[in-house]
Amino acid sequence: MFFKRKSNINLDNIPTHIAMIMDGNGRWAKKRGLSRSVGHRYGIENLKTVVELNLKFKIKFLTVYAFSIENWKRPKDEIETLFELMKQFFDSYGQELSDKGVRIKVIGTRENLSNDILEIIDKVENMTKDNDDLTLLIAFNYGFSEEILTCVKKITHKCLNNELTISDINNELIENNLYTSGVPNVDLLIRTSGEQRLSNFLLLQCSYAELYFTEVYWPDFKEQEYLAALNEYQKRQRRFGGL
Ligand code: IPE
Ligand code: IPE
Ligand code: MG
Repeated sequence: MFFKRKSNINLDNIPTHIAMIMDGNGRWAKKRGLSRSVGHRYGIENLKTVVELNLKFKIKFLTVYAFSIENWKRPKDEIETLFELMKQFFDSYGQELSDKGVRIKVIGTRENLSNDILEIIDKVENMTKDNDDLTLLIAFNYGFSEEILTCVKKITHKCLNNELTISDINNELIENNLYTSGVPNVDLLIRTSGEQRLSNFLLLQCSYAELYFTEVYWPDFKEQEYLAALNEYQKRQRRFGGL
């Protein structure tokens, strides 16, 4: 059988949707005697590198976890840094991503987000809405428990307004009322920094995802690490309950 190869990667078995929990910025910085903010700065820089890699390998969907609802528990100045870096990412890189054919979508609740960040999100989503080389979903102010709660409320509303009946409720309807509506389920979930948990990220969408955990901190997750993850994915046998 003929395999088209790029760096040992079988281009006929590339995941359609990769999700990444970008974890370990703080520990990366601490190890170097730097502040957590500096870690986050390198983390957001690395997101650019990783987006480029996903373009290179023609991944259709990439979802990255940038700020969880649980992250509101962090000190105020760290939260401010994370928000500022996200704004800068959109400001300085949005146009370039758009030119490269990336569609950007921010998933999560808009509640508790300030107007300036909401405006930037709307701008970048609008600017990139017709692109379809790579869809980059940025989970920002995201938590699956909030996503499913919002979904249940939307469906209940439609039932109460007689737009739907209970017999209309099926898996497809639920999927269509999640933030990831129209996006296929995750094939490969990568978490950096050695933690082996999902931290409320895309729980339903990851039902049959292959899980890949690496000790490497997010700012160090570069091409070599990315290729190692793809290689491991290509060794997995996905059965989806079959034989
Ligand atoms: C990931 O790095 C970024 C966010 C959660 C926003 P962390 O900030 O969680 O870094 P560690 O886990 O403390 O090292
Ligand atoms: C998950 O990382 C959230 C993001 C990467 C944005 P955390 O560092 O917040 O997760 P826990 O608290 O270790 O589970
Ligand atoms: Mg962490």
